[in-house]
Amino acid sequence: MIRLQNISKSFTTEESVIHAVKGVNLEINKGEVFGIIGFSGAGKSTLVRCINLLERPTEGSVTIDGMEITTLSEKELRTVRKKIGMIFQHFNLMKSRTVYQNVAYPLKGRGLTKTQIQNKVKSLLKLVNLSDKETAYPSQLSGGQKQRVAIARALANEPKVLLCDEATSALDPQTTLSILKLLKELNEKLGLTIVIITHEMSVIKEVCNRVAVMDKGSVIEQGDVFSVFSSPKEAVTQEFIDTTSTLSKIYDLIKANSVIVKLKPGEKIIKLKYLEKSTSEPLVSFISRQFNIDLNIIFGNIEIIQEAPLGGLVALVSGKEDDIKAAIQYLLNKNVEVEVINDGIYQ
Ligand SMILES: Nc1ncnc2c1ncn2[C@@H]1O[C@H](COP(=O)(O)OP(=O)(O)OP(=O)(O)O)[C@@H](O)[C@H]1O
Ligand SMILES: [Mg+2]
Repeated sequence: MIRLQNISKSFTTEESVIHAVKGVNLEINKGEVFGIIGFSGAGKSTLVRCINLLERPTEGSVTIDGMEITTLSEKELRTVRKKIGMIFQHFNLMKSRTVYQNVAYPLKGRGLTKTQIQNKVKSLLKLVNLSDKETAYPSQLSGGQKQRVAIARALANEPKVLLCDEATSALDPQTTLSILKLLKELNEKLGLTIVIITHEMSVIKEVCNRVAVMDKGSVIEQGDVFSVFSSPKEAVTQEFIDTTSTLSKIYDLIKANSVIVKLKPGEKIIKLKYLEKSTSEPLVSFISRQFNIDLNIIFGNIEIIQEAPLGGLVALVSGKEDDIKAAIQYLLNKNVEVEVINDGIYQ
């Protein structure tokens, strides 16, 4: 649906040239929810604005649904842009117009009758669950409601693609979830291809099929969400993962000499990480029984991503040295990553 080839974008200011996007290649499939994550200034907004040419790339080509669009005339481009909706962090609604008028706005000048417009607006508001707010003004709405209006407006021209630039960054976690759920519904119901830009890992985990990690203008890593999360290759990716995982806290506890990680002779701390989608066996209870060892879970961080458990555990293991070794070998054979942390504090 979207193919970006060798996209670069530089901004020339009086003092310097800023290379906001550098040689990005991305392919986003029809009907996919694709996430782009990166820290502030990574170039995410610039890149996504290149998709609908709100920003003209300095180099490279943009193909939407099989059509190369960088060479189109302004008029042809306007038609293509109708197929690409966009929503933003701060909603960008027209304050002096009602919810109804905001959603009706993009339908103007399309030769529709008043009744046709009315039917369309009503069905869009129903779709985003805001039928009761037709006559309200943006100032009378909550953030989540405003974003729903923005989504309805973005869908007015029946786009094939919806670009979301930090669309949930101004919302609380619960409202964020409800908007992400709505996006997922629209993706499934309408076959809408969605591109989500965010700096929050939780957003990617919640709805995306694939993810690209951006850093300093480049895409440094991409793949399906499970693989990128279970086996990150880049340090920046790991930093994002750590924001939603408690597992690396174990190192802080050890450093702080916490009583939680005090070991008795023969005890070890092990950190387990699931690397494969197939891990659905009751591994912990199994190794405990099979190898006659005890496991005391200190943290657990397992969630379901793309219908498979992802994450891991930090546990204090006690038992005979050989039994612990055999248990660890068993886990390794099951393709679970095991890190033995022996440098806890011995009493
Ligand atoms: N119009 C512009 N003129 C000059 N520099 C710009 C312009 N737009 C963006 N930049 C610069 O390009 C770089 C990337 O900016 P961009 O807004 O794409 O980052 P981002 O990843 O979206 O960040 P954030 O998460 O803060 O929104 C930054 O250094 C920014 O200052
Ligand atoms: Mg941005």
